[in-house]
Amino acid sequence: MSTPPDSTAPLLEPALRARLDALLDEGWELCDRFDTDVRQKEFHPFLPADYEEVLEALLPFRGPGVRFLEWGSANGVITIMADLLGFEAYGIELDGDLVVQARALAQRTGSRARFAAGSFLPSGYRLNRGGEKDRLGTIGTGPSGYVELGIPLDDFDLVFGYPWSGEEPIMLDLMSRYGRADARLLLAKTSGGVKSMLGREIVVAR
Ligand SMILES: C[S@@+](CC[C@H](N)C(=O)[O-])C[C@H]1O[C@@H](n2cnc3c(N)ncnc32)[C@H](O)[C@@H]1O
Repeated sequence: MSTPPDSTAPLLEPALRARLDALLDEGWELCDRFDTDVRQKEFHPFLPADYEEVLEALLPFRGPGVRFLEWGSANGVITIMADLLGFEAYGIELDGDLVVQARALAQRTGSRARFAAGSFLPSGYRLNRGGEKDRLGTIGTGPSGYVELGIPLDDFDLVFGYPWSGEEPIMLDLMSRYGRADARLLLAKTSGGVKSMLGREIVVAR
């Protein structure tokens, strides 16, 4: 996998850009290895977002004490990127092996990002609309990761997710019911780009 053109370089200090470049290079290598070792043998819901696009989407929201959460943080690249950018960064991932990888990557890159093994769906979460289009899709279920983090969803300022096609309504539903009205949700799109919404702007038909 190749890294897309570097459109964010002028906005970042050279030393930080170098750390991010090293992180993204290692991140793409981990993704390639995951593809060979896991995805070519059986289906797995981990597919990486476009890291440069996510980086660009995060930049306007940098600030002291801004709390970031990645839903489905996989090998940790995006959560660690958020930490290096100065966010207080957390990731929740259902696959325990990926959480181990993420913690090891955080250690190698000198990041303080924290990861919980569990689900980003709060305990007791149920889709309350019913019907085929409301299926959870590749979003798995398990013990809530917020308990391990000790931080509920409405204590995060910025939340990122990369839903598979058809799963965006679940993430919107989640944010509108459990997120803070003034928190922001960033969703990477399978068609490219990152959608940015304030919690209070999210209206889900029920
Ligand atoms: C499409 S991948 C996105 C990975 C990463 N966020 C990125 O953008 O590169 C979705 C990830 O969510 C994880 N996942 C699926 N359901 C989950 C759940 N309920 N809670 C936590 N993680 C989940 C999958 O194991 C997978 O790693």
